[in-house]
Parts: sequence; structure tokens; C-alpha cells
Amino acid sequence: MSLRLAVLGAGAVGGSVVELAAEYGHRVVGFADSSSGVVDAGGIDGERALERKSRDGAVGDDDPDDVLAADYDVLVEATPTTLGDAEPGFSHCLAALERDRHVVLANKGPVAERYADLRRAEEDSAGDVLFEATVGGAMPVLSTVADYGPGHISTARGVLNGTANFVLSRMAAEGLGYEHVLAEAQDLGVAEADPSFDVDGTDAALKCVILANVLSEARGGDVFSLDDAEVTGIKDIPGSALDLATEDGRTIRLIGEATPKRVRVGPRLVPQHGALAVTGTQNIVQFETEHAGQLNVSGRGAGGPETATAVLADVARLNR
Ligand code: HSE
Repeated sequence: MSLRLAVLGAGAVGGSVVELAAEYGHRVVGFADSSSGVVDAGGIDGERALERKSRDGAVGDDDPDDVLAADYDVLVEATPTTLGDAEPGFSHCLAALERDRHVVLANKGPVAERYADLRRAEEDSAGDVLFEATVGGAMPVLSTVADYGPGHISTARGVLNGTANFVLSRMAAEGLGYEHVLAEAQDLGVAEADPSFDVDGTDAALKCVILANVLSEARGGDVFSLDDAEVTGIKDIPGSALDLATEDGRTIRLIGEATPKRVRVGPRLVPQHGALAVTGTQNIVQFETEHAGQLNVSGRGAGGPETATAVLADVARLNR
């Protein structure tokens, strides 16, 4: 069945959903840039994004309220992640759920910072909330957790930020400086609207908070937010530390860890040729499972079209 999508956020991810929706059999009935005035990760300003995307035949709008008032089946919430009250993303989700519409999020804010509120709003609605795209871009991370059974997974650990991984692996392999490599990551369109989210560990921590909430929910445990996470970033790692690690057959990666009880993110030494030493914008998550040992999921954890495929996978799940 072809579903009608309303897309909020016309940046790298939302813009790619608009471009790819028809290929997946769905129709975009409206899309708009964020009312927050924050624009997309690739640095394209809102108006240019609207001009570019509207060539596809969908109607671009500069007012999210117009899009929320349209007749749609699924709201795709892809505005930039905000912390604390997670606005305006959370209110967008609420508006859709109050009309009994489904919500698919790429925006991590409402899921990481307002998980209990989001679940409550979902319970009161005939609409469902899915958020595969919030963790690990194109990788099927949350659907793997759901299929395996969150109550049978004790830990999710791995590389969950493409920008930080790109920076660390380029610095180690090419001996390039931090600022230079970060600018390259921004040019690739994988960095967040505010790249300090990537390099200070916030983005990886938000993904781990989301994972911890899903693992904890299955056990009737606590709800986490970013404030509960122990986070250290990569900004202060000198090139010399990477050189020393390499001499020792190891390298440094920003590793996130989520359990039903704890969220931690920080730089860790890992074997240079081990599974966790993914390069470029690749991500990996290793699950420790109850009955099947370690289960690894890896792939492109960032990028507009990549993350849009995770959004469209959630739309397909709603369709089933
Ligand atoms: N900026 C993020 C990253 C995008 O680099 O991984 C996906 O959340």
C-alpha cells in the first residue's frame, strides 16, 4: 500500500526521504524545514533545500504547521536534534499522534530526552512511533534488538558516530590534523548541524541512551536521558596518541556502551585490525546476547540517503 508521508526537516536526511519516497512506493504530501530556523547538516540553507527538493513534485512549505495539518498517514520527523525538552521535534510528534497518525523519527531528541512522554503519547494514540533511523544510520540496529528480543540482550557496544570515526581513522592513517579532517567530515554531510555534538560524544551518547531505554523498558527498568550518560569526546586526543597506539598494534575509537543500567561513551584503545576498528563513516554495534553470544551489525551509520533508508524501512514496517 502506498502511504502518504509528511516530512518535517528538509536537511540531509529529510531531503533524502523526499527524494527517495516514490522509489519505495510512497507519496510525499508535504514537507518543510524546521521552524527552529536550524538548517541541514550539509549546510544547505532552508530555501535552497526547498527549491531543490520541490522539483520532485512535492509541495515545499516554510511552515511546519501547514504540513502537520495536511492529510497524511505517517509523519517523518527529521528536524535537527535538540536537547532538554527536545523541541520543536517533540511537539511535532505529539501533534501527529493526537490525530492518530504514525510517527517515524530520524530526530534523536524526542526519543533520547523524552522517551517516557513519547511512549505515553503513543499509548493514547492509534498511531505508532518508530525510530530506527535515530541509531546507526542505515544499519538495522533497533530492528535487530526488537527481533532478537531486548530482554535477551545485555549490552550494546560499538562505534556509533560516523563523524568522530572518520576523524580518528583519517588522523591515524594519514597523519592529518584534527581541524582539517573535521572540515572534510562536514563537507561529506555526515556531521550534525552542530558538529560539536559529534566530537564531544553527545551524538553517540544520545544513540546509547535510546538503546539503553529500549533494553531497560523490556525489563521494566529506569528511563534514561542524556544527563544520565558518562560522556568523553575526542577533541583532546593528540595525533601523537594515535601514533603510539598504532606502534602497539592498536588504535583509538570513540566507543559507546549501553546496558539496561548504564550509558557510557568515550575514547578507547581497540585492536587495530579488530571488529571495532571500523574506518571512515562506518559504524558497528556488538550485541551481547543471552543465548547466541556476540552478534555484530555494521554498515553506514551516517549520511542523508543512508539514514533515509532506515526511515523508509520503518515506513515499510508500519505498512505491514
Ligand atoms: N552526525 C552523525 C554521525 C549522523 O556522524 O554519525 C548520524 O547520527
